[in-house]
Amino acid sequence: MTVFSAPGKIILFGEHAVVYGRPAIAVPVTQVRAEATVEPSRDVRVQIDARDLSRRFFLDDAPDDDPIAAIIRRTCARLGVPARNFSVRICSTIPVARGLGSGAAVSVAVARALAAHFNRALSTDEVSALAYEVEKLHHGTPSGIDNTVVAFEQPVYFVRGKPIETFRIARPFLIAIADTGIASPTKIAVRDVRRAWEGDRARYEARFDEIGGIVRKARELIEQGAVSALGGLMLKNQELLQQIGVSSDEIERLVDAAVGAGAEGAKLSGAGRGGNVIALVTQETKGAVAQALWHAGAVGVIVTEIRDER
Ligand code: PMV
Repeated sequence: MTVFSAPGKIILFGEHAVVYGRPAIAVPVTQVRAEATVEPSRDVRVQIDARDLSRRFFLDDAPDDDPIAAIIRRTCARLGVPARNFSVRICSTIPVARGLGSGAAVSVAVARALAAHFNRALSTDEVSALAYEVEKLHHGTPSGIDNTVVAFEQPVYFVRGKPIETFRIARPFLIAIADTGIASPTKIAVRDVRRAWEGDRARYEARFDEIGGIVRKARELIEQGAVSALGGLMLKNQELLQQIGVSSDEIERLVDAAVGAGAEGAKLSGAGRGGNVIALVTQETKGAVAQALWHAGAVGVIVTEIRDER
C-alpha cells in the first residue's frame, strides 16, 4: 500500500494583474490536504473510491476528461506501466471549487502514490507537469501556478510565460481563510476585467502596475521575515482589486470584520466576487478574527500557518 498527500493553496497577492503579465504569489495551505492510497488488487479493473467527492467508479467507465481518471491514465503512461490490478482511494479535506487548489492536490497525490506503488521515481517537476495536463482539461489555459505550488509545497513567485520561481519563508505567519460561501467562476471575473481593461487600458494598466509593485515588495518582506508589514500590502492590494471591479459587498464585509477584530490586513484571494477572503493574523488575534469572520457571514474559516516545509 502506498499513501501520499498534497496540500491546498491560496493566492496571497497579484490575482488578475497576473493575467496581464505582472507577478503573483501563491503559497501552500498545509492544513488541508488531499491523500491518495494505492493498493494492489486481484481485480484487473482499477476501482477508484473518492468518498469525500461522493464518487466510486471503475477507471474503464470514466470519460477521457474525468480529472481523476486522467491523472491515473497519464501517470501510468508516463511510467510505462499498465493501468490494472490496483485500486485508488482518495480522501480530501480541501473544499472543492473554492480556489483552494483541490483538483491539483488530488492529481499530485495520485501521481506520487502511483509512482511509489510501481517503485518508480517521478521528480517534482514531472509530477507538476502531469497535474498541469489535467488542469488544462478543465480550465483551458491555466497559468500553472496551482500545480506548481501544490507539487513543490513552497511559495511560488509566478510570472506568466516565465520559469516559475520558488522562494523561502524566513518566518512563518498565520493566515485566516474565510469562505464567503459564494461560488464565483474564475472565467467570468477574468472576462469582466478584460472588458473593463478594453474600455480604459491606461487606467487598468496603471492599477496592474501598482499591484505588480505590491507583489514584488511582498516577496521581499516574506524572504526577510518582516511578515507583519504584509498586512498593509494586503489592504492596498484589496483596494486595487476593488477598483478593478472584482470585490463584492460580502468580501468587503469580511475584510472589514477581520481588520476590526485585529487582523493586520485582509483581501480577497483568487478570482473575487465570492470565493475566499484571507486575513493576516497572529497567535493573539486569530481567535477573535475567526469569530468576527463567522459573525460577518463566512461559511467556513480555516487558520493556517504559512511556513517553509523544506
Ligand atoms: O481562484 P483561482 O485560484 O482560480 O485564481 C484565479 C486567479 C486569476 O488571476 C483571477 C486568474 C488566473 O488565471 O490567474
